[in-house]
Amino acid sequence: MTIKFNGHASIYIKTENVSIVTDPWFSKEGAFLSTWFQFPDNTQLDLTPIRNADYIVLSHEHQDHFDLNFLKTINPKTKIIIPKYTDSYLYDTLRDNLKNEIIVANSLQKIRLSQDVTFCPVVQSVPIWDDCTLVFETPEGTIVDVNDMKIINKDFEWIRNNFKINHLFIQFSGANWHPVVYDYPHQRKAEIAKHKIETKFHNVAELFRGSGADNLIPCAGPPCFLDDEHFELNFSDESIFPTQAAFYEFLKKEGLADKTFILMPGGTFDPSQDCKLISEKNVQREEFTNRRQYLESYKARRKDIINKNLSALESPTRSQLDRCKEYFEPLVGSSQYFRKKINGRLLLDITGAVSEKIIIDFSKEKDSVKLFENENFFYKLEFDSRLLKLILDRKLTWEQLLLSIRFKATRNPDIYNEALIVFLRFADANSYKAYELYETRKDFSDTFLLEHEGKKYEVQRYCPHAMGDLSKGRIIDGCIVCPNHGWTFSIKDGQCVSKNSSIKIKRVDTEEAVPSVSTQ
Ligand code: FES
Repeated sequence: MTIKFNGHASIYIKTENVSIVTDPWFSKEGAFLSTWFQFPDNTQLDLTPIRNADYIVLSHEHQDHFDLNFLKTINPKTKIIIPKYTDSYLYDTLRDNLKNEIIVANSLQKIRLSQDVTFCPVVQSVPIWDDCTLVFETPEGTIVDVNDMKIINKDFEWIRNNFKINHLFIQFSGANWHPVVYDYPHQRKAEIAKHKIETKFHNVAELFRGSGADNLIPCAGPPCFLDDEHFELNFSDESIFPTQAAFYEFLKKEGLADKTFILMPGGTFDPSQDCKLISEKNVQREEFTNRRQYLESYKARRKDIINKNLSALESPTRSQLDRCKEYFEPLVGSSQYFRKKINGRLLLDITGAVSEKIIIDFSKEKDSVKLFENENFFYKLEFDSRLLKLILDRKLTWEQLLLSIRFKATRNPDIYNEALIVFLRFADANSYKAYELYETRKDFSDTFLLEHEGKKYEVQRYCPHAMGDLSKGRIIDGCIVCPNHGWTFSIKDGQCVSKNSSIKIKRVDTEEAVPSVSTQ
């Protein structure tokens, strides 16, 4: 049996009976409006076995996992497996563009791919993101490919209860537009980035320890940025995209390096080999030790493609206000739940060929879209009119725009409004209903006892973000840090630092209880 790493989040598995590829991303055009590129470059690999695999398994719709241009080049006999999601974007796009058989797999249900391999998708049970962990039982043990799924305890526990995890493939580097696009001073961006990187590294280490897996294979990032506008981000302390080498240094300090395989695109994963030997050799490669030189030359190879793609974007010829009304007003009107949760005005500050400022007012059920007349707003997105046109033409999703980091953002107050991001990400009334159902069913009655600086507290156990288990969180500077994505809650009053959220927390060793606060 052979297991190879294809770069980014892609794995090639071949047994005597079957060949499988996960999340192939090989396009020289990169992803997200040609902002993200594979790091290290994997486009020189021999793609013949990948194109002719029996199965290609896609975890989710992000373009660094769902590379439609590459998929258009695969063998028509290759079967494509996707998880079943509420949103049909992935299925519809495949059906409209390819003739290959598409298999939609239900979450938590095992499929036999051959006599020696099974596959089981574990779809994120929080409907904020469509994402999925891919589990393969193979003759070389069970591969659990979490890739970039923000896995919550409940889903991970299900995997642990149903499989003996041998090889854990997981993302360690960030994949978000915060703080890069925000109008913060440099120092603030650098502090946020440092905090995010540390939190992510610790979370992955803890998850690996808790998984009981034999091997850790970091994957699914970081991307690199090869266009002129974003190139310096590769070297900036504002970046939340640390390299494999930086993560390996961290793992050494954590005593986990002797279980970690740092693999290069095309590298074979052989659990019987000495991972330290492989990893130490790989982190000495030019990609890490002379990153600027490596990326300068990579940038030169992609320059023409990036220029071609960006200059092909079509400009609108007139105001897009009416089209914005058609797009947004039915969505805003469809969900009282989201209107209440977002509760404010979003300003679209559109630049470029047709510049205009458009307000989306979430306090209004009807007539929610109009030209800006100096009203207050809580969130501003500034981007080019060509990108708005793409969104209104339904050729670009909000998620793709946000991940492209081809925009600037301002928020006032500087608090994460998750409801707004979910609203944009789904842009679909049915998905809003499913999300509302999930949110209103959340059970926060479970608590745990926390002892801190000689005092005792009864604390809400599950994080309001995505049900992370706060009893497993770290205590830093008088705050509980959620082990999942680092939301930070003050022990004093339960308020979340920098997010519009809070948890219930109560002093229990004194008559004088800390007031408990609501979770919304
Ligand atoms: S579950 Fe995401 S930060 Fe807690």
